[in-house]
Amino acid sequence: MSWVRFLWSYLSYRKDLLALLLACSAAMAAAELAVPWLMKEVIDAVLGEGPSAGMNMWLLTAVAVLAVLYAAHVVLLRTDALMILHCSYALRRRLLAHVHAQSLSFFARHRTGELTHRLTSDTKLFETSVARLLRDLPSEILVVIGVTALMFMLHAGLALVIILFMAAAAGLTFYLGQPLPSLRKSAQRVSARLAARFQETLAGVRTVQAFRNEGHELARLDEENRGLLDFELKEGKVYALMEPLGDMVELLGLVLVVWYGGGLIIAGEITAGTLVAFIAYMEILARPLGHVEAYVRSIQTSRAVGERLEDLLADREQLPAKGRWTSDAVPSIAFENVRFRYPGAERDILHDVSFSVDPGEAVAVTGRNGAGKSTLMDMLLRLHDPLAGRILAAGTDLTHWELDAWRRSVGVMPQEVFLFQTTIGENIAYGKPGASAEEVEEAVRASGLDRILRRFPEGLQTLVGERGAQLSGGERQSIALARLFLRRPRLLILDEPTSQLDGEALQLVRAALKPLMEGATSFIVTHNIDTVELANRVIFLENGRLAADGDHRSLLRREPRYSALWKDAAPPPEVPMSGQTR
Ligand SMILES: Nc1ncnc2c1ncn2[C@@H]1O[C@H](COP(=O)(O)OP(=O)(O)OP(=O)(O)O)[C@@H](O)[C@H]1O
Ligand SMILES: [Mg+2]
Repeated sequence: MSWVRFLWSYLSYRKDLLALLLACSAAMAAAELAVPWLMKEVIDAVLGEGPSAGMNMWLLTAVAVLAVLYAAHVVLLRTDALMILHCSYALRRRLLAHVHAQSLSFFARHRTGELTHRLTSDTKLFETSVARLLRDLPSEILVVIGVTALMFMLHAGLALVIILFMAAAAGLTFYLGQPLPSLRKSAQRVSARLAARFQETLAGVRTVQAFRNEGHELARLDEENRGLLDFELKEGKVYALMEPLGDMVELLGLVLVVWYGGGLIIAGEITAGTLVAFIAYMEILARPLGHVEAYVRSIQTSRAVGERLEDLLADREQLPAKGRWTSDAVPSIAFENVRFRYPGAERDILHDVSFSVDPGEAVAVTGRNGAGKSTLMDMLLRLHDPLAGRILAAGTDLTHWELDAWRRSVGVMPQEVFLFQTTIGENIAYGKPGASAEEVEEAVRASGLDRILRRFPEGLQTLVGERGAQLSGGERQSIALARLFLRRPRLLILDEPTSQLDGEALQLVRAALKPLMEGATSFIVTHNIDTVELANRVIFLENGRLAADGDHRSLLRREPRYSALWKDAAPPPEVPMSGQTR
């Protein structure tokens, strides 16, 4: 029944239009039922077997009934389209908000292409099948009920024969259609996988081409594509069995009525007008019956897709965000016995990490690849919560902070800079939505990016390509830094901010970072010896443990593993020397 609940949650966005649609359906059904009844009345009158009435009056009544039918149909179609568009808009909005409310572990479990597929293809398929159902099904159900009642009023025996026959036919159609929802669900699943894989090969097209792996990728895509074909062929087989059933039933039913009804006229049980009315009702019944196959298709499709969408909406993975605490002060930071492991992973990434940092301090975080530096920074931003221990900012557990306020007070430059497919200017303004052009220009000047921008004739209006692919790594890093100048954060997290910068840019950026760091507590992850010197203290991580904590020069002297880190990294000659001479 979860499908019905989901359908209701979808439709209830426009209950007003739904009510109008049902009213139109009822009007249409009533008008349709009236026509055969009028025919019976006039035939019996003409044959002198009932009350006689003027033929012109009869025509007028029939035309009036048809006019009602037409008007109700027009309003119904309009309402159906309007309602479905509004409901789909609301559904998409719900899905978008849901996806963006999830924490990072949700995204680790779902592939981008697959989520996109649910939001586009699944939603569209659901919309189309529900629209089709609502347009015809309510009026046809009413027609079937009404015709059944009227036929029983005319002659119970004949009605029973017809109803039993029709019910058997409808039952058979449903039976044949049983495999459809699971086939459709599988087809949507495979097609989402195909979309996800395709999206991945596009995002990694440079790698694919560099390794000359187009053939390999195509073979993998074709595997999914073929899977989709198989499921859809199976669906086609089921439909081929179901579809001709409708026509068959209509003709067979007619034969049955004429044979049985003819016998009843001979026996004097019914009038000729009654048989004509029966035949007309049969015709009316044949239409919904001919649609049963399409209804089964729509119901099964909307069920399959609706369940997929509902699963997505039920899949929540959010950080608890009930905290209300906020503060404008430059925060102190404390890690207290923090332990962390990624969901589904088998080993801890951070073990029992403890340290504290005063407000305004600048801390360099170093360690070998995979030591857990970026993870530590993510935890500081509260992208993940610790499994044990706690993180305090300004003396308050991060989980008690208002999440929005906390993230807004942090300025972060991630290890992998992501740029949106728009201009350099808009990518900088992302640091503060709604920033004015002057503010952006000021940030550009303050960050030293103006020196780099000079090589672009279009300056801030330069387009960066998808994910910033049309810029060099150093240019992307400079833009990410300029973003921070718009924000003036109270906590600064820089994950390898200078890893891609050349000598000139490095000097510029380091000079620019100083004033930014003055008004903030700062963490700088780096493998660069000069960048370490921006900080007055170093935290050295080894395999997720805090191996050393102190100032750079004294660590070089007293921690062999720390100095080994810089030796291996082939630092500029003067630094190890200064470490050794002291
Ligand atoms: N999303 C994830 N799921 C599971 N494991 C992860 C995830 N991200 C990182 N890891 C693992 O956590 C460990 C620490 O990764 P992290 O990115 O924090 O290292 P790092 O110190 O920043 O390294 P680098 O100097 O290479 O940037 C690594 O062993 C990595 O494989
Ligand atoms: Mg890292």
